[in-house]
Amino acid sequence: MVYGFRDTPKAEGMQVKATISQVSRHVGQAVTIGCWLYNKRSSGKIQFLQLRDGTGVIQGVLVKNEVPEAVWEAANRLTQESSLYVTGTVREDARAPGGYELAVHDIRILQIAEHPYPIALKEHGVDFLLDHRHLWIRTPRQTAILRIRAEVFRAAQEWLNAHGFVRMDAPILTPTSAEGTTTLFHTKYFDEDAYLSQSGQLYAEAGAMALGRVYTLGPTFRAEKSKTRRHLIEFWMLEPEAAFVEHEENLEIQEQLVSHIVQSVLQNCSRELATLGRDTSKLEKVVPPFPRMTYDEAIAFLQKQGHAIEWGEDFGAPEETALAEAHDKPVFITHYPAKIKAFYMQPDPNRPEVVLCADLIAPEGYGEIIGGSQRIHDPELLKQRFAEHGLSTEAYGWYLDLRRYGSVPHSGFGLGMERTIAWICGLEHVREAIPFPRMLYRLHP
Ligand code: 4AD
Repeated sequence: MVYGFRDTPKAEGMQVKATISQVSRHVGQAVTIGCWLYNKRSSGKIQFLQLRDGTGVIQGVLVKNEVPEAVWEAANRLTQESSLYVTGTVREDARAPGGYELAVHDIRILQIAEHPYPIALKEHGVDFLLDHRHLWIRTPRQTAILRIRAEVFRAAQEWLNAHGFVRMDAPILTPTSAEGTTTLFHTKYFDEDAYLSQSGQLYAEAGAMALGRVYTLGPTFRAEKSKTRRHLIEFWMLEPEAAFVEHEENLEIQEQLVSHIVQSVLQNCSRELATLGRDTSKLEKVVPPFPRMTYDEAIAFLQKQGHAIEWGEDFGAPEETALAEAHDKPVFITHYPAKIKAFYMQPDPNRPEVVLCADLIAPEGYGEIIGGSQRIHDPELLKQRFAEHGLSTEAYGWYLDLRRYGSVPHSGFGLGMERTIAWICGLEHVREAIPFPRMLYRLHP
């Protein structure tokens, strides 16, 4: 992928202002790059500057008796993360990291960064790095992840927009819960009680009845007391919802969307994946169709493997990992027992104790990346579920209205963006998949 602004000729000096990602187009020419010093080494007569500008890293080379004394001295003064404009001639050099280097002839210092820089170029503990997340994101590995994150968001919306889904965002401040009451973040909304959104789904359903196909994309909040490598307190969810779509078509939409996201990252972020050392052969296999397993089949499979799980129980991380390991693509687990799933899920007409839902489990131990279902469209059944779940028809009256005025079968799902990014990037922990993670014991910075 080529990043950065368009090359702009600078009137005064006739050099071209370029980004590091653009230097291949300027071999033999002088360019000026706005950048930061990442690292520096010197052999007395030559200084090697590792320069970064957010689009890449390039080595700048200064030879003492070939540059003016003032330029040599300016390079000498640079501390880690000092900001500067550097001007030099681009040279192709197979030995240089990235394949190009810059023969520096001028340096304009913008700021000499305070020394020492908190993040030295050595191993640091994760708590230290998280305390310095605002600086940690400048490192090559973190910028690679953030670029892949941006590509995941872009590609997801590209696929949805091309398939008739209209973006329609849901409110963050909500008067009720969408996914149970145990993980609600409470706040005051003037004199009323309000909660931070756990899911935009209920609003997306209203949108689907207005526009046919919609998706919400925004932050969601779960006050979950889970300290695992898959849980965030604030995470981003993509929630498509479509009228006249039933269970099987809902799965087809999901497998196409997920494949498009993965294939787009492979195509557009090869450099970033290489920076992360990601084994891309596993990602290349992520093409439709994805395998499907019913909950019953999954339970039988797990019991045979020796897992102590009974019909009616939900899967934990070890069970999800075992199910994933049996497949080399993401796998859908369908038809869960109604009693362990949300109130709005449509029962299977042939077997009402299970619902027309699916969770999509990512390969390589990344766990559930999507939860979705066909929704109840019969008003009487929905009222019955309200009663069973202790939900007031007063608070959820508007949601019932969707079943009173032209109700249609409809389905949707929620894709957890950070878990998807963690899987695609091959990250140990979901916390690196979001710029500023909010976790059980972390609200800062
Ligand atoms: O399965 P969930 O709870 O589904 C819903 O919220 C539905 N209302 C979505 C819908 O049908 N529109 O969450 C969906 C996904 C999970 O599969 C997971 O990827 C992610 O959201 N997720 C989390 N990601 C990070 N941290 C957490 N605490 C998460 N909880 C859910």
